[in-house]
This record gives sequence, structure tokens and C-alpha cells, in this order.
Amino acid sequence: MTMDIGELERQLNNHQFYHIIDLPGGLKTPGRPHFKYMWDLVIESLDTIDFKGKRVLDIGCRDGLFSFYAEEKGAAEIIGIDNLISTGAVELIIPARQSKVQMVEMNVNDLRQETFGTFDVIIFAGVLYHLRYPFWVIKKLQECLKPGGVMVIESGILTSMNQYPMMFCPAGEVKGPYDPTSCTFFNVTGMKCTLQSMGFIDVKLDSMIRHAGDGHERLKTDNASLDASFERKIGRAVFSATKASSAVNEQWVDDYWDGVQNPEVLKERARAGKVKAHHGKEAIVKDLTKD
Ligand SMILES: C[S@@+](CC[C@H](N)C(=O)[O-])C[C@H]1O[C@@H](n2cnc3c(N)ncnc32)[C@H](O)[C@@H]1O
Repeated sequence: MTMDIGELERQLNNHQFYHIIDLPGGLKTPGRPHFKYMWDLVIESLDTIDFKGKRVLDIGCRDGLFSFYAEEKGAAEIIGIDNLISTGAVELIIPARQSKVQMVEMNVNDLRQETFGTFDVIIFAGVLYHLRYPFWVIKKLQECLKPGGVMVIESGILTSMNQYPMMFCPAGEVKGPYDPTSCTFFNVTGMKCTLQSMGFIDVKLDSMIRHAGDGHERLKTDNASLDASFERKIGRAVFSATKASSAVNEQWVDDYWDGVQNPEVLKERARAGKVKAHHGKEAIVKDLTKD
């Protein structure tokens, strides 16, 4: 059923919107134009993905900009979750666009593989730096991806000190750059190492910007240009990564995340040649890309 354009225009005033989304009759949701630079970075990465016939999960989907993008590009099924559902999306955008995107109110911390099954593509934008349990959630998302599936992550990022894998986690008397719910800022090396430890391959930093005065400075993404200074700098970055497709890697990831402190598991892994002694501790030597 098509909605009357005049009525649609009137209804736009009944909701608050975050995203700017096209509607019939040349209308758009008003959204917050000053965040467009971040959405553009995500779209740049999504543009490299073939969505045709795919199952897509959009985490923290808000009004659904990336969900509707995936639908336009031919995705077969799109589920968006958000802990605060967008009534504007559910009551106005989805019916007006005659969209098949499904939006579900849920906290990503509660997501399990059993909830919706597995996906070809997971879009995880603007959420990671709000999470108190970032490793837990990345691991659960990895479990929700099909082998060979792709995850695109956009997040606030610590753009400096990239010689070490690190996370800046402001709390208490150390104030973060945004509001207090923004508490988890990986640096680029920390994000890449974490994704590799979760069984992802082809881990790429697709784009990165740094807040500069009232504008945004686009940073190069090669290692040489990554900042090694100790000054704290926060920007935004988009990563993409592919879930390795071998069962051996699955076992390796589970061992690493769930069993590494268990002496019996360590002994077993040492016998199997998956770890070697390193200064009295255990270092992982298994190459994730090989069986
Ligand atoms: C900054 S907005 C980003 C929206 C969109 N993904 C984007 O990048 O444009 C963050 C969204 O994530 C949602 N969110 C934050 N923490 C969440 C959580 N733990 N579980 C599910 N959604 C969450 C918020 O309600 C909000 O809609």
C-alpha cells in the first residue's frame, strides 16, 4: 500500500531521526547532516561487497541507513538490531519504502548465534566504542558470521601509538573525548590483532579520519603513516575482515579465547604444536590462514 506523500511529510514531524534516508516523493528524513562524513566512510567499504542474495545483520541500526543500502544492493534478508528501536523507522520509513528490513529491539550483548542464525555480512557501525565488553561482543558476532562472511566495523579509534596493540578505555577521572558512554577506543593495531585472534583473515583498515579543529582530516591507512606518538588522538576508522573458513581455525579461536588459562588445555595445545614456550609463558604460533 503506497502512502500519501502529503501525509508522509506531515508524519515526518512526529519522529526524531538520526540518519538521512530517501523516501518516496523526493522526501528525506531530516537526520543529522554533521554525521554524514562517518556514514560516507562506511558506505565506501560497503560498496566493495556483493550483497546479492545475502543475509545481512546491522548492529545498532538506528534508522536503518545501512540496512536500506544493503536492501537496495540486492540483499535477500536484512535484520537490524538496536537497544533503542527507531519508532520513525518502524512506523514510517519501512512502510513508506515498502521495505522488507526487519528491526528488532535488542542489546548486542544478548545476541547469540541461535537468535537469528548466521549471516553473510555483518555491519557493525558506531557501536563498538560504547561497549564495556568489546571482546565478548566481537566474539559473539564472529560466531554469527558464516565462514567466508564479511564484517565491516566502524568505530571511534585511538589514532596514535600504533606500534602496540592497545585500547584507550577512559572512565572515572580520565575523561574520554565524547560522552561517558564512549569507553572503548582500540588503536588500529589493537583492532587488527583482536580481529585476527578471533579467526578473521584479510583484516583491513579501509579508511580513517582524525577530528581536526572543526573539520576532519583524512589519514592514510598504510603502516608508515600510522602515528607513533604518545599524544592521545581520537578519530573514526572503518575496518573490514573476513571470517576464516576452516574448522581448524574455529577450534583454534575457541581454544585461544576460552581455554588459554587452563593448564590442561595449554599442555594439550603444546603437544599438538599449536603453541610454543616463550619466557615461561605460551605464545601462539598457529597460522590462522592454514589448516
Ligand atoms: C552512534 S549510533 C550509530 C548508528 C548507525 N549504526 C551508524 O553508524 O550510523 C549508535 C546506535 O547503536 C545503538 N546501540 C548502542 N549500544 C548498543 C547495544 N549495546 N546494543 C544494541 N544497540 C546499541 C544506539 O541505540 C544507537 O542507535
